[in-house]
Amino acid sequence: MSERLKKKSTVATSSIMVFPTDTNDYGTMYGGRLIEMMDMVGGICARRFSSHKAVTASIEDMQFNKPINRGDIIELESRIIYTGRTSMVVKTKVTREGYDEDKEVCARAYFVFVAMDSEGKPIEVPILEILTEKEEKNNKIGAEIRKRQALEEKRFEIELNENL
Ligand SMILES: CC(C)(COP(=O)(O)OP(=O)(O)OC[C@H]1O[C@@H](n2cnc3c(N)ncnc32)[C@H](O)[C@@H]1OP(=O)(O)O)[C@@H](O)C(=O)NCCC(=O)NCCS
Repeated sequence: MSERLKKKSTVATSSIMVFPTDTNDYGTMYGGRLIEMMDMVGGICARRFSSHKAVTASIEDMQFNKPINRGDIIELESRIIYTGRTSMVVKTKVTREGYDEDKEVCARAYFVFVAMDSEGKPIEVPILEILTEKEEKNNKIGAEIRKRQALEEKRFEIELNENL
């Protein structure tokens, strides 16, 4: 059996201008639109790390802590913080910048991506190398998220088959 490769964390970033089509009646950004962008940047990060297609399996601890306004520039930054056998936890942070050029963090979430082979089956990802204290801290958060999910899995299976 071949040994699993070890790999340093990968990142992906993107800067986007917020347009009227991204915002609601109050001129602030739709949460769903922001999640879509976070999913895209996180997916690029997961693909870079795994060298495979990656699908979104879940979104954890999504926080919108500051509104984003029409005309703001937003920066999205994603980083692999934890790996399982075929899954990767990607932390994504969003920072907004208004016309005064001040920056503030406005959203953060942890996305779980699963690497897929050419037949659409989950495939092993490299083992994440932990090199710094910050990476160690993030890795513990990723491990806690996956542990919590494993506990919730049974309840989720039951709920899937019930009416709302
Ligand atoms: C994610 C998916 C590929 C997992 O398939 P599966 O048959 O459960 O595969 P496995 O049981 O082998 O699990 C593979 C990995 O996915 C993880 N996983 C499965 N369901 C999960 C969920 N709901 N949340 C988080 N992780 C999940 C498993 O823990 C496992 O991780 P590990 O290998 O690191 O231990 C499958 O559920 C799927 O295709 N979901 C739809 C994905 C999609 O279309 N996303 C776009 C949004 S619509």
